[in-house]
Amino acid sequence: MSNKFFDKQENEVIQQFLENGYVIFPLEDYHLLDKIRAQIFKWSLNILQTQIDSKEEIFFNNTHHHVRVEELNEFRLKIIAEIVNDPDLRSDIYSLAKTYIGWIVGNELAMQRNCNLSLQLPHDDSSLLPLHTDVWSGNSPYEIVFWFSLVDCYRTKSIFILPKPDSEKILDNFHQYYHFSTEQLYQTIKHDLIWLEVPYGSGVIFSHTLFHGGRVNEEDESRWSFNVRFKSLLSPYAMKEMGESFLPITIRPATRFGYNYKKPKMQ
Ligand SMILES: [Fe+2]
Repeated sequence: MSNKFFDKQENEVIQQFLENGYVIFPLEDYHLLDKIRAQIFKWSLNILQTQIDSKEEIFFNNTHHHVRVEELNEFRLKIIAEIVNDPDLRSDIYSLAKTYIGWIVGNELAMQRNCNLSLQLPHDDSSLLPLHTDVWSGNSPYEIVFWFSLVDCYRTKSIFILPKPDSEKILDNFHQYYHFSTEQLYQTIKHDLIWLEVPYGSGVIFSHTLFHGGRVNEEDESRWSFNVRFKSLLSPYAMKEMGESFLPITIRPATRFGYNYKKPKMQ
């Protein structure tokens, strides 16, 4: 049902998110995305101490030709150290999805302090995040995840999500499933899962209250993806708190007035 306070496209996106629990959308600024990818390419070559003449796209899809599985975590941590020290990356990542985050979450936001980088080499099972919901590990259900990749993602190179109606069916009848292992639960729901098809230049926003995760990448290409959580600044927090896990990014002045208001003392 459309809401007259939202415009047409906003209503459509909100409806889609309410029905499915996720939306795939074109990122807002391809130049910015290219800038992020170029920066990470540069860091990678520095870390690997090598020169690669191929295009960036070819390097990212073929990272498994440059980094062995045993070296992957150390390599990833070195990239993350660069990411943490980059003064622009968090705001650049926000800019890629600002409109959609605004429609789905609001415009007064807290953003996760760390932008998480995931690297999935073909046939590597060492860094998988199997089926889960983030709420079970202390995240607030008011958060969303913004996910995008530096390569085209499809089939097992991507991530899967169990759409809202199917996730709710499981959660509403969880007494039937709570004793299942993660793998048993995966086998039970695998036919209803959606493998997100996300080309380079697109992103996903999803509710991490829904079941989601990854499997071994059975494609012949590597995946580089980012995920970062956003929530409405004043919505409830869970164990991932303001300051420690989240930082305010867009506090509006009226909220500052409200926050700083002191009741006058009468005596
Ligand atoms: Fe998750």
